[in-house]
Amino acid sequence: MKQVLVTGGAGFIGSHLTEALLARGDAVTVVDDQSTGTFDNLAAVRDHPRLKCIEGDIGDPKLAARLAADAEHVYHLAAAVGVALVARQPKETIERNIHPTELLLDALVERCRSGDSVKFFLASTSEVYGKNPKATFHEEDDLIFGSTTRARWSYGASKAIDEFLALACHRQYGLPVVIGRFFNVVGPRQSGAYGMVLPRFVDAALAGRPLTVHDDGRQTRCFAHVRDVIVAVTQLMEAPDAEGRVFNIGSDQPVSIVELAQRVIAATGSAASVEYQSYADAYDADFEDIRRRVPDLTRLQQTIPHRNHYDLDAIIRAVIDAKTKQP
Ligand SMILES: NC(=O)c1ccc[n+]([C@@H]2O[C@H](COP(=O)([O-])OP(=O)(O)OC[C@H]3O[C@@H](n4cnc5c(N)ncnc54)[C@H](O)[C@@H]3O)[C@@H](O)[C@H]2O)c1
Repeated sequence: MKQVLVTGGAGFIGSHLTEALLARGDAVTVVDDQSTGTFDNLAAVRDHPRLKCIEGDIGDPKLAARLAADAEHVYHLAAAVGVALVARQPKETIERNIHPTELLLDALVERCRSGDSVKFFLASTSEVYGKNPKATFHEEDDLIFGSTTRARWSYGASKAIDEFLALACHRQYGLPVVIGRFFNVVGPRQSGAYGMVLPRFVDAALAGRPLTVHDDGRQTRCFAHVRDVIVAVTQLMEAPDAEGRVFNIGSDQPVSIVELAQRVIAATGSAASVEYQSYADAYDADFEDIRRRVPDLTRLQQTIPHRNHYDLDAIIRAVIDAKTKQP
């Protein structure tokens, strides 16, 4: 049994991770300030004897030091997430994404220097590739961000700083870190409130409202079920070869956003239509997007035996089922 700390454990991905860690026998401490998540996401395991939930800000130095002192593994997922949230709160995004990572790493480096090695997983993002025009992104590819006058790049740039920090701690102090760059993770419990496309589409289709597609809808993304992603993350944390390295995690099967909308409409049997909205109307006048985002999964597949089990239709079905089962 490991003592595991999950920051952001009441969020979408964090709650699934927490359930998986409890199921395999770990003792899990979740810290979450409920800024975008909610402890309701942990309803199924709320009374679990090996789960401890702490409501708090991991950007609080005392709390970060206290929680980092007890953990054997740390999964750091707490962050400001979602294109819409980043557009609304660029300053908080940068602070939320960098400061807590630094606090946790500082505490773990201290322990590491006194011979106590704690494994650290950093949840990073495909957004770090910025607007690199390559057809598929490999972990060693360049990060190509737009101007600092365009707030959307602050999310990817702040996560890139997290990656630099984690890798620096590995190089300088031997801290065992693993970095996962998530590409569109979806599934039950994901909120559509911060710009996530699939829950937004499913909510609209179920309510018979138009599905709002941004720009021409021909931009492509790859969607992975959160359960597949969690399996990859937990396997990476057990793989000695993964230490000090960065991994793309997700699906490598692209779909255009307008096709996603059509598949959601078909799967729900909804009479809803598709409507188009410019990025300027959805976010702001200088919003820039990425046309195509597909991961190269070679490194992941060479390091762990993992393969995704859910295809896009199964994922859409799972999201619909979860939403229609809610009271
Ligand atoms: N969902 C995706 O497609 C995706 C893609 C790329 C990267 N990620 C990364 O995965 C991680 C989890 O994302 P998610 O989709 O589950 O989002 P989420 O918003 O559901 O989860 C983030 C959680 O962190 C909590 N949180 C934020 N700041 C905090 C703080 N200072 N102290 C304590 N708790 C705090 C929030 O309340 C929330 O519960 C994030 O680091 C995100 O950047 C997600």
